[in-house]
Amino acid sequence: MKCKITGAQLKPFMTFGKMPIANAFVKKENFDKEFFFEMQVGFNEDLSLFQLNDHPKPEKMFNKHYPFFTGSSEFMKVHFKDYANFVKKNYLNTNSKVIEIGSNDGTFLNNFSDKKNIIGFEPSSNVADKAQKNNIPTINEFFNTSNVSKLSNFLGNTDLICASNVICHVPNLNNLIESIDLLLTKSGTFVFEEPYLGSMFDKVSYDQIYDEHIFIFSATAVKNIFKKYNFDLVDAFPQNTHGGSMRYIVKREKISSPSHNLKRILEDEKKIKLDTIESCLIFKEKCKISKEKIKNKIINLKKEGKSICGYAATSKSTTVLNYCGINVDHIDYICDTTIEKIGKYTPGTHIPIKNMDYFYKNQADSVYLFAWNHKNEILQKEKDFKGEWFSHVAL
Ligand code: TMP
Repeated sequence: MKCKITGAQLKPFMTFGKMPIANAFVKKENFDKEFFFEMQVGFNEDLSLFQLNDHPKPEKMFNKHYPFFTGSSEFMKVHFKDYANFVKKNYLNTNSKVIEIGSNDGTFLNNFSDKKNIIGFEPSSNVADKAQKNNIPTINEFFNTSNVSKLSNFLGNTDLICASNVICHVPNLNNLIESIDLLLTKSGTFVFEEPYLGSMFDKVSYDQIYDEHIFIFSATAVKNIFKKYNFDLVDAFPQNTHGGSMRYIVKREKISSPSHNLKRILEDEKKIKLDTIESCLIFKEKCKISKEKIKNKIINLKKEGKSICGYAATSKSTTVLNYCGINVDHIDYICDTTIEKIGKYTPGTHIPIKNMDYFYKNQADSVYLFAWNHKNEILQKEKDFKGEWFSHVAL
């Protein structure tokens, strides 16, 4: 599928090779049925937007088998509580209506007590089920004009629309913004958080790129995209989630002027050339170096006779393992807490996924931390582990 807002002006500049669906953890009997696509990235010079050239259909990624539950991280639960407090303080009145796009298991909306005025849209039925069981009003559908049009109480009457780590998943930004336009009040606010391009370039965390992450936004790109639809980016706040994210505040045109804070962020982005393809070309070279470095690290550990396991079968790990050609010859297993993943194998590279008990009983000499963005929480939890932690991103 081509992305609707941008396809024409895209300049592809790098490929990560054949990739499976990042979250399609696979059973042994289905190894020969895996789906692969060419993961090429490009830069849209019109919008200053970093994006995948091509991507699988959303239905291939967000379905009844989606194995990611927001509530699986204690750190993220705290983050969503703080996020809810931030929006309540700044953008809500009593009786305000709130919609969350991609509400997952309801971790964020659970912080709102007035359940009749909140709705989550969640296309993956297994996570939507979990939210519904916890009494979070959840529509198990994609957020689009056809589905939001059915919500007569919310049309033109919604003070706040929130999203976290989901707008970068939406190929049809045209329809997404039209849906927001249908729902928001005149002075309403759209707040969303996404992995930040500046952080990805800085950390060379190319594993932010996978089928679900069609876009990696900068403030400049967000400003340019929304401008096309008569919305203004009015503020932005860096976040330390997902290895470096940005929270964007968007309002209808001319409701609020851009904050000083936002102006500074936009100037900083210009200085480091996030608004041009130049920064992408530097990133491309750094990815190649990172790949060689991590492969050499693993080959050397193996030569020394060390055993290696992975910690957390993240979606990000699919990019690293497939791009770097790391498989079961290098890593014995990856441990993870997610029931849906345990007993399956990593997409494309077929490393077995084991539960935490297995990790404690089969301690490896070295552990590849794939959930490097949850480093503090995990290293604290596993402080008794005596071996070496490593990752392709500085820990
Ligand atoms: P994600 O990076 O795709 O969001 O996935 C995070 C994965 O990490 C998820 O499968 C749960 C796993 N995980 C653990 O196994 N232990 C942990 O302590 C944390 C924080 C995450």
